[in-house]
Amino acid sequence: MPQLFHPATNTIARVSIFGTIFLTAGLGWMAWGYERSSYITRQGDVRPQPVPFSHEHHVRGLGIDCRYCHTSVEDSYFAGLPATKVCMTCHSQMWTNAPLLQPVRDSWVNNRPISWTRVHNLPGFVYFNHSIHVNKGVGCVSCHGEVDGMPLMWKASSLQMEWCLECHREPERVLRPRDEVFNLHYDPARDPKHPGETQLTLGRKLKEQYHLLSREQLQNCSTCHR
Ligand code: HEC
Ligand code: HEC
Ligand code: HEC
Ligand code: HEC
Ligand code: HEC
Repeated sequence: MPQLFHPATNTIARVSIFGTIFLTAGLGWMAWGYERSSYITRQGDVRPQPVPFSHEHHVRGLGIDCRYCHTSVEDSYFAGLPATKVCMTCHSQMWTNAPLLQPVRDSWVNNRPISWTRVHNLPGFVYFNHSIHVNKGVGCVSCHGEVDGMPLMWKASSLQMEWCLECHREPERVLRPRDEVFNLHYDPARDPKHPGETQLTLGRKLKEQYHLLSREQLQNCSTCHR
């Protein structure tokens, strides 16, 4: 019987079967990567603001505490953004003619809040609360990074579910004394109040002391989706 198919067809068939498998896997991998990419999460993306407010200048340079501007961060789910009045305590006296600050003066004169571009924004079906974290010794830096090195604000973390869970599994890796929550450069190994401790040994002690929720509770779906 004459061969219906040329022997090369076998090779072609094999190549195309494997080709399809690899192509599918490749596309899946790309889609997975895409969803987690900084392009989608906008992690590390500097966002333009109506006024180029610099945390680097105001926090690192002038040493202003977070709570001076984010007044509700200890008591509420919401950290709060400063009212124009807060800026004007200083800027009614300094940099009063700077064009950069024109939107601040306009806002003050017209009694209209500055519309800051939101950098962090969780979807509505996720429950988040600042005061719970802050009062249990989770520092701003653990979630927002070193904002005192940011001339304009960006997102240091992805804010994806995996990111929340990673910390909820082992909070001892980040816990610090409550009075160090606002210190962006706290290092337990150099804290004279806790000699001989490392992050892990101190974290484990604080976990007991602050009566943290159990690991199971912290990973329970209804903790964040209620
Ligand atoms: C002098 C006032 C001031 C101080 C002090 C200050 N901030 Fe801010 N912060 C602002 C303003 C104004 C914005 C909105 C503009 C922007 O995003 O940069 C903001 C935005 C933010 C955002 C992003 C909000 C969003 O849109 O998601 C974070 C996070 C933040 N601040 C953290 C901190 C931390 C942490 C500290 C202390 C280490 C701090 N800030 C100190 C004024 C301040
Ligand atoms: C405690 C005083 C104080 C407060 C409160 C304050 N600023 Fe400033 N701001 C300064 C000083 C001082 C400078 C000059 C900083 C420099 O040149 O290093 C400055 C500079 C600026 C500049 C010029 C660019 C820069 O960063 O150098 C902008 C814009 C600005 N501030 C916006 C704001 C806004 C918006 C607020 C309110 C959310 C605010 N500031 C609150 C003291 C303050
Ligand atoms: C456990 C992580 C975590 C810690 C700790 C944390 N934040 Fe946030 N922060 C977030 C998340 C998540 C959002 C976005 C919330 C949303 O979209 O509802 C946010 C939003 C913000 C905003 C925007 C306004 C708001 O409340 O939505 C500011 C300002 C802010 N944080 C400041 C701070 C400061 C200052 C500290 C330290 C005292 C701090 N954060 C500690 C995770 C954290
Ligand atoms: C860096 C560590 C860290 C990250 C990141 C973090 N958390 Fe938490 N979270 C904690 C700790 C520690 C507690 C424990 C508070 C307690 O035991 O009362 C907590 C508690 C909570 C609670 C309170 C549970 C309750 O009923 O009291 C909610 C809700 C929550 N986290 C949501 C989130 C969400 C949503 C994210 C991500 C957007 C997130 N957390 C990211 C450390 C973290
Ligand atoms: C520590 C907080 C936390 C816990 C616990 C948690 N989630 Fe989420 N979940 C989130 C956050 C934050 C997002 C939003 C992610 C984003 O915007 O990319 C999310 C998103 C989702 C989504 C939307 C799809 C997606 O992946 O973005 C689903 C579905 C979901 N969660 C299901 C669950 C289930 C089921 C559980 C329990 C096994 C659970 N979550 C536990 C924080 C949490």
